[in-house]
Amino acid sequence: MSKKATIEFDGKKYEFPIVVGTENEVAIQIKSLRGDTGGLITLDPGYKNTGSCESAITFLNGEEGILRYRGYAIEELADNASFLEVAYLLIFGELPTQQQLDKLYADIKRESNVDEEMKKILDGFPKSAHPMGVLSSLTSALIAFNPSAVNVDSEEDMYNAIIKLLAKFPVLVAWTLRKRQGQPLDYGDSSLGYVENILKMMFKKPSENYEVDPVVASALNKLLILHADHEQNCSTSTVRIVGSSHAGLFASISAGISALWGPLHGGANQAVIEMLEGIKQDGGDTKKYMKKAKDKNDPFRLMGFGHRVYKNFDPRAKIIKKSADEVLGKLGVQDPVLDIAKGLEKEALEDSYFVDRKLYPNVDFYSGIIYRALGIPTEMFTVMFALGRLPGWIAQWREMRLKKEPIGRPRQVYTGENLRSFKPMENR
Ligand code: CMC
Repeated sequence: MSKKATIEFDGKKYEFPIVVGTENEVAIQIKSLRGDTGGLITLDPGYKNTGSCESAITFLNGEEGILRYRGYAIEELADNASFLEVAYLLIFGELPTQQQLDKLYADIKRESNVDEEMKKILDGFPKSAHPMGVLSSLTSALIAFNPSAVNVDSEEDMYNAIIKLLAKFPVLVAWTLRKRQGQPLDYGDSSLGYVENILKMMFKKPSENYEVDPVVASALNKLLILHADHEQNCSTSTVRIVGSSHAGLFASISAGISALWGPLHGGANQAVIEMLEGIKQDGGDTKKYMKKAKDKNDPFRLMGFGHRVYKNFDPRAKIIKKSADEVLGKLGVQDPVLDIAKGLEKEALEDSYFVDRKLYPNVDFYSGIIYRALGIPTEMFTVMFALGRLPGWIAQWREMRLKKEPIGRPRQVYTGENLRSFKPMENR
């Protein structure tokens, strides 16, 4: 007999089915709660206990520090796969054969031009504009140049929309950086791999050749894979909820970029480096900042620490920490903030405030140090996160649309004024 959960309310008992996932995660299915009980709803600010969907893309166990894409461990993927293979895996469900991968990349290259008119939109931004705002706007602007709606009943239509985005997004990322740096805008080099091409588009100087450094390409490949999906986080939930209104793929992704921007989410990688730099300039006194982080009257938080779901360790942070040592060593970069970061981590792991609250370094604690070593400016860190997260957002959007999920529309408990009479201006 299948399990059920019982809710007792106003002296009556109501039964609700239990949904069990493939990794034995259990949930109470409360779809009929309001109807059955005549108005009862659940209240869960920040959705800490609320599952918004059933999904077959990413499995995350925060207690044990497990992260898997389509059943493959993140550690194995980071060591063995290319970012494009992982993108295929996330979006279409299986690792691609060589033939499937070749076709994917050939299709991407064919779509990798961005309408020249888009440059005028970019020109409208001041150089000082934050790259995340620019990227979100440009992604949204792509709709004007690719207006057809995606017919989710057509595999071909879905595929074409996805290819367009995978192809054009890296160009927009590169343009966002180049505009900021006053460099001419350019297109890619189709003789290069997906990640190598991104590097060249970002860093090639007009009058110099650009040789891709394999150490840099491999480090970026790994970072992009580690960021590629993370189930129902803030930006992914945003993408799904915007897409649930049947807004198109580009509009949904543009909204996801805005959600990622915040310092509690993807913006943390920029905030971490700024924090570490601040500590360095302040004499490197990590103890002082640990104290600030623990002081409830001080708004300072240890950026790059803590996670909504990981309560033991973030497996991505483990990989990135090791990678930071390797990459900086291979590139011959000495960055004093790496030592400050390691010092802070050591102190936090021995401090009861952090231990009791299960606060550990997250993916963003060390990623900025690698980005910096690769020559990526601080304000571009969150853009790099968006580039990595793109396949995950697409996969989640595709899954949601193919399953024909209903429009996302939470309820609320109203706590405002009861009905009152309109007050004329002179009486207010
Ligand atoms: N420094 C100091 N105290 C913290 C921190 C921190 N970084 N994070 C959480 N706490 C404390 C918090 O004050 C609270 O204490 P108390 O119980 O005494 O009130 C307790 O720990 C629980 O915190 P919370 O804010 O209720 O936890 P949450 O699950 O809502 O938030 C978080 C998770 C990631 C937003 C939060 O840990 C945080 O703000 N971290 C810093 C920002 C950051 O690094 N974000 C990147 C997340 S990973 C990348 C991504 O996927 O977006």
